[in-house]
Amino acid sequence: MADNANTATANIGVVGLAVMGSNLARNLASREGNTVAVFNRSPERTRTLTTEHPEANFVASETIEDFVNSLSKPRTAIIMVQAGAGTDAVIDQLTNLFEPGDIIVDGGNALFTDTIRREKAVSATGIHFVGAGISGGEEGALKGPSIMPGGSAESYKTLGPILASIAAVAEGEPCVTHVGTDGAGHFVKMIHNGIEYADMQLIAEAYDLLRRNAGLTPAEIADVFAEWNKGELESYLIEITAEVLRQVDAKTGKPLVDVILDQAGSKGTGVWTVQNALALGVPVSGIAEAVFARSLSSHPEQRAAAAGMPGPASPVAVTDREAFIEDVRRALYASKIIAYSQGFDAIRAGAEEFNWTIDLGAVSRIWRGGCIIRAQFLNRIADAYAESPNLSALLTAPYFAEAITSSQEAWRRVVVSATVTGIPAPAFSSSLAYYDGLRAERLPAALVQGQRDFFGAHTYGRVDLPGVFHTLWSGDRTEIEMN
Ligand SMILES: NC(=O)c1ccc[n+]([C@@H]2O[C@H](COP(=O)([O-])OP(=O)(O)OC[C@H]3O[C@@H](n4cnc5c(N)ncnc54)[C@H](OP(=O)(O)O)[C@@H]3O)[C@@H](O)[C@H]2O)c1
Repeated sequence: MADNANTATANIGVVGLAVMGSNLARNLASREGNTVAVFNRSPERTRTLTTEHPEANFVASETIEDFVNSLSKPRTAIIMVQAGAGTDAVIDQLTNLFEPGDIIVDGGNALFTDTIRREKAVSATGIHFVGAGISGGEEGALKGPSIMPGGSAESYKTLGPILASIAAVAEGEPCVTHVGTDGAGHFVKMIHNGIEYADMQLIAEAYDLLRRNAGLTPAEIADVFAEWNKGELESYLIEITAEVLRQVDAKTGKPLVDVILDQAGSKGTGVWTVQNALALGVPVSGIAEAVFARSLSSHPEQRAAAAGMPGPASPVAVTDREAFIEDVRRALYASKIIAYSQGFDAIRAGAEEFNWTIDLGAVSRIWRGGCIIRAQFLNRIADAYAESPNLSALLTAPYFAEAITSSQEAWRRVVVSATVTGIPAPAFSSSLAYYDGLRAERLPAALVQGQRDFFGAHTYGRVDLPGVFHTLWSGDRTEIEMN
């Protein structure tokens, strides 16, 4: 390894060679024109990678100094280490050795506010810092992920072609775009993950309804999903759902889904999405219900305590299976439109709050390949923003409005069916409530505002007059105009 050190031959480097880093390094090395330097805190990982993949011709180093010296200028290094303290430690090491104009990329799952902080500190030294969201898991890292870089436009000139060389390709376009400055890339990646939570929860609710209401077996539901995957719901998540449902457990001969413990875990990006959407005042109810559904599933003690509590006295069985399956498909599509509409709304609000210029159509295009939520549907979102870049709510774009209009009766029947049979469908029903809330001519918010004025003199506006008003609730209850 020392042979290669100090020769400055690599145009790109990767620090952190666990599953994501080593796959990304191999992906980079497989692309024409790239020579890839690699470094990992524990040298064993580096040795394993170089031994197992001689074809990659990695320039491997066992010290961070040799690694830095092996990079040609401007030096560009992608950090793929554990998010948090590990990332800060590596940034410190690189910042001490890099020179102005060099580029540090954090490809881990950092919280965007950490990225904003890091970008500020690193760019003060003249070194570029780019937080890049990378989606697609280990397979995506190896074969082509969807990449969401932030950072300066200047650093993207060097970085863009390198990232484009390894990104997934969808309809001839690489799934990477300069999302915006500083933390914009990690913010968009966070929302991507939030949407992923909602999409998965909606699919899980569809499965539960088909299984428990319509009495389909997991294998039959796999066939239904495989069929759906040929139409407007075509997506990676629908495709893998069919695969999971078809899988039979070798130990018991049962469907695998029946032997998997029904407690869903998470790594926290869904929680981040909801926390930030709350702070931005954007209702991402589909994502929030998905996060809560995972939390509920992971409280076995509460579930055991509530297990004997009654459900509906006489659940109504599904009589027309085919019609019910079609209703569920439509409810799933309508709810999915809501989830994406809410997610894009959160990106728009985040861009406003943090002064980013984010092209929402470009974001939808880079999600068409490589990432977990890749789907045909994203083309429709790209079309909607191409037609109307300042669309206030995605669901009102003509294509989506028409899809919801034609699905809403089915959607309502499915939510009713879930309610009367006692099957929880929180994402389906909250999406429908969001839709009904948004389209309502009058909302009971008027009453809430009246209550607020009663106990806290929080004032209200009137539908018929300009100005701000307060009723003297504890006096003679006349109304006064506030200045
Ligand atoms: N797994 C996924 O599907 C996925 C998808 C997208 C993004 N990501 C993100 O990609 C990053 C890498 O993920 P991963 O699953 O490959 O690895 P990981 O398990 O998150 O992290 C392990 C790597 O971090 C290094 N590391 C930890 N603390 C360090 C420190 N203080 N100084 C230097 N190196 C340190 C480890 O080095 P040692 O070998 O020396 O311990 C090892 O290379 C993470 O930020 C993750 O969130 C993961």
